[in-house]
Amino acid sequence: MDIKESIQGIKTEIEQSSFDGAESLENFRLTYLSKKGKIQSLFGAFRDVPVDQKKIIGQELNALKQFAQEIFNTAQENLGSSKKSSNNSQDLTMPGEPLRIGSRHPLSLVKNEIVEIFERIGFNLSEGPEIEDDWHNFTALNLPDEHPARDMQDTFFIEKDPDYLLRTHTSSVQVRYMENNQPPIRTISPGRVFRNEAISARAHCIFHQVEGLYIDEGVSFADLKQTLLYFAKEMFGEKTEIRLRPSYFPFTEPSAEVDVSCNICGGAGCNVCKYTGYLEILGCGMVDPAVLENCGIDSKKYSGFAFGMGIERIAMLKYQINDLRLFFENDIRFLKQFSKF
Ligand code: PHE
Repeated sequence: MDIKESIQGIKTEIEQSSFDGAESLENFRLTYLSKKGKIQSLFGAFRDVPVDQKKIIGQELNALKQFAQEIFNTAQENLGSSKKSSNNSQDLTMPGEPLRIGSRHPLSLVKNEIVEIFERIGFNLSEGPEIEDDWHNFTALNLPDEHPARDMQDTFFIEKDPDYLLRTHTSSVQVRYMENNQPPIRTISPGRVFRNEAISARAHCIFHQVEGLYIDEGVSFADLKQTLLYFAKEMFGEKTEIRLRPSYFPFTEPSAEVDVSCNICGGAGCNVCKYTGYLEILGCGMVDPAVLENCGIDSKKYSGFAFGMGIERIAMLKYQINDLRLFFENDIRFLKQFSKF
């Protein structure tokens, strides 16, 4: 057979070939493209082609080889992609992959709950800086320089003269609020505070407070007591009772510490309440008139109360956690127990 006819014959064969899988593709490759394939054998026969025809036959042979290669490549691509799509077919009855959603930190949960309880009776939210000056953290609150009660709040000082420090309580926010607002004032100030204390199961150098302030005409100690009873019942349950013990804070007079009946044993006595039936949760009192005057509020016209509590302490009672350090370690195994999902 003449080589030209062979080229034409193979071209026709290739045009008619069909592919239905990997096997037919491999057969095609062996038949036309391998070293022992039909096209390669034509290249062998090329040697005998007369010189004057070599150019034209050579071109045709090369074109044939290229054509076969293109057909092969296209078929391979088509088979490849259909294989992929058959692997990709989805089983819509399979259960979905669960989404891992983070949860709020227990301290945030408790803080939000406290803030919401007071918002329901008309308190607004106020915030202030964590780095404070001496006036807002101490002096305005009836704690002048050299006042012995300053020692109670082991302060982290940042700078001397002018004095800058890390606030030791969020009472500083209340001072700022009074300086900028006239009564009636009902505000609640949550935030992070700092004290230079040795870290233990019951104390940390960083912790969180919520403090409240209520100032208006004719506010009395009875208002304070009733507000705190409302809070205790909302926070710890309807049966909760409170007990006030006389105490001392430089910025309130009279001052008290407040206990709630133990929500674990219901007052019968257990190791959480150390068999007293009560748990201490906050400090409070009537704002000292000198503090009102320091902040530009007329103490003859207005009176008010303030209270402050540690969020960690409330969270420990609420979730029965016996080591405060757990709140700061951020161990996922601890935190995920508070997830609602
Ligand atoms: N500021 C006080 C503290 O940090 C708490 C407190 C606030 C007490 C308001 C009385 C009134 O300990």
